[in-house]
Amino acid sequence: MSIFEYNGSALVAMVGKNCFAIASDRRLGVQLQTIATDFQRISKIHDRVFLGLSGLATDAQTLYQRLVFRHKLYQLREERDMKPETFANLVSALLYEKRFGPYFCQPVIAGLGDEDKPFICTMDSIGAKELAKDFVVAGTASEFLYGACESMFKEDMEPEELFETVSQALLSSVDRDCLSGWGGHVYVVTPTEVKERILKGRMD
Ligand SMILES: *[C@@H]1O[C@H](CO)[C@@H](O)[C@H](O)[C@H]1NC(C)=O
Repeated sequence: MSIFEYNGSALVAMVGKNCFAIASDRRLGVQLQTIATDFQRISKIHDRVFLGLSGLATDAQTLYQRLVFRHKLYQLREERDMKPETFANLVSALLYEKRFGPYFCQPVIAGLGDEDKPFICTMDSIGAKELAKDFVVAGTASEFLYGACESMFKEDMEPEELFETVSQALLSSVDRDCLSGWGGHVYVVTPTEVKERILKGRMD
C-alpha cells in the first residue's frame, strides 16, 4: 500500500458563479481500521482562501502549521491577505523545498481572487501545480471523484446548486472507496459569506 493511502481521504473543490465549494470526507484510519470519524482535512487560511490536505495525516498537520505560520508573516509584512494564486505558489515552494524527502500530502487550494473570480488548484507531493477551470480532486477516492464530478458538473452554478452537486459527487464517490467516507464536510464560499455544513452519509 502506498504511504499516501495509509490514513485514507477524499477531497474535492468545485467552481461556481462567483463562488466555490471545497469538500472532504471525515474518516481517519490506519489502513483498514477506522480511528476517527470527525477528522478535519480542510482549513481556512483566511475568509477567501481554503486549503485541503489529503494523504498522510501527520504530514498534513505539519504542513498546515508551516503554511499558517508563513501566511501570518505575510500578513504582518504586507498588511493584507494573500491572493489564492500567491498562496498556491507558497504551498508549491514549501513542498518543492523537500523535493528529495517530501511530505506525503496532495493539497487542494480554493479561493476567491480579484473581482471575486474563483480559483482552484491541486498539486502533487513535490508541488507541481495542476490548475483547472471546473473542479479538482485528491485523495484515495480521487478516481471515483473524477467520474462523479465529470458527469455532474455544470458551468456557472449558484451557491445552493453547487453545494448539492459537490455533496452528491462526494457521497457517491466515498461509497466506492473503503478508505474514505463517514459523512462529509462541505464549505461553500461566496464573496459575502462562508457556509459550512456537515453531511451524513453511509456510516459503514
Ligand atoms: C496515519 O497513518 C500512519 C501510518 O500508518 C500511522 O502511523 C498514523 O498513526 C496515522 N495517523 C493517525 C493520526 O492515526
